[in-house]
Amino acid sequence: MQDFLSTPAKILITGADGQIGRFLYQAASADAFFNVVAYSDAELDISNPDQVQVALDEHLPDYVINTTGFNAVDRAEEESGRCFALNADAVEILGRACGELSIPLVHLSSDYVFDGHYASGYKEDDQPTPLGLYGESKWQGEERLRAVLPQHIILRVSWVFSTIGDNFMRRALQQAREQQSISAVDDRRGCPTSAADIARVIIAMLKQIHNGADNWGTYHYCGAEVTSRYGFTEAVLAAAGQYEKLAAETLEPISSSELCSDAERPASSVLVCNKLLNAFGIRQIPWRNELIAMIRLQYQEQSQQETETA
Ligand SMILES: NC(=O)c1ccc[n+]([C@@H]2O[C@H](COP(=O)([O-])OP(=O)(O)OC[C@H]3O[C@@H](n4cnc5c(N)ncnc54)[C@H](OP(=O)(O)O)[C@@H]3O)[C@@H](O)[C@H]2O)c1
Repeated sequence: MQDFLSTPAKILITGADGQIGRFLYQAASADAFFNVVAYSDAELDISNPDQVQVALDEHLPDYVINTTGFNAVDRAEEESGRCFALNADAVEILGRACGELSIPLVHLSSDYVFDGHYASGYKEDDQPTPLGLYGESKWQGEERLRAVLPQHIILRVSWVFSTIGDNFMRRALQQAREQQSISAVDDRRGCPTSAADIARVIIAMLKQIHNGADNWGTYHYCGAEVTSRYGFTEAVLAAAGQYEKLAAETLEPISSSELCSDAERPASSVLVCNKLLNAFGIRQIPWRNELIAMIRLQYQEQSQQETETA
């Protein structure tokens, strides 16, 4: 067991400018348990083996957490080369480099590795059969990491939302501000998950691992309560309506077939999270509470920006 009381665990975060990367950086930096080194994509390109080697040699972290990802599900169909280069090839590069220095790697994967035909939810050992190239690239990334680095955690998450970047919460909010009538798909089921909640889970797992828990492997995590995109949008409107009068007066349910998208998406991508509870004692928390907190943060950040530019 390591002397964790006197020596913080040193973690190196890749993709630190992304949704999960930024929330993880903030939470871990505020926690005395950790000594955090964080690299944005501009500072460390994980598809470049030399850059990866230099970063690991310089810091020799206790753990690497890879939060990078090519996540544009539709664009993946046209830009498959870029998608596989990051979601599969680069994961192997990082995994091999970590392996040579005996550094465990925490890697994020996706509910999109499953085809969504199994309505009661997917467990870790259900066979992935991705529908599109994004899901295929994430599955390949997982498999290539398993092949090169036994000391890994693969955490599959779903429907990530936050105040950062292009995500469903922000898109719904933007539309609701601009349009009188908006629509959302009501025939796809899943569990929204806040980036802050994922950061909480990664931190809790790392603390236990650093204390000697030998729980390597693949885990699922998502916010509690299954919903549809329509149900999530309704909740976004209700939460945001506490802060401003939105333009949207009606929200129409539509079917996936009415959307013009390049990639097919799973109809049900509910992740069963019992393995995480049994191995680490980490419970799912309701995404509705996280959404209210995230919307509050969105308005706080907006008013801070307005004050700064006034
Ligand atoms: N978003 C979701 O709904 C969702 C769902 C399930 C699983 N996940 C998984 O969770 C992880 C994090 O997702 P996220 O939503 O936080 O992603 P995100 O916000 O898009 O962040 C990913 C970060 O990786 C960076 N990046 C891209 N190429 C890189 C490279 N070659 N080297 C280093 N960094 C690079 C990106 O930079 P640029 O922005 O400059 O490209 C971005 O800052 C990913 O593995 C994703 O597949 C996400």
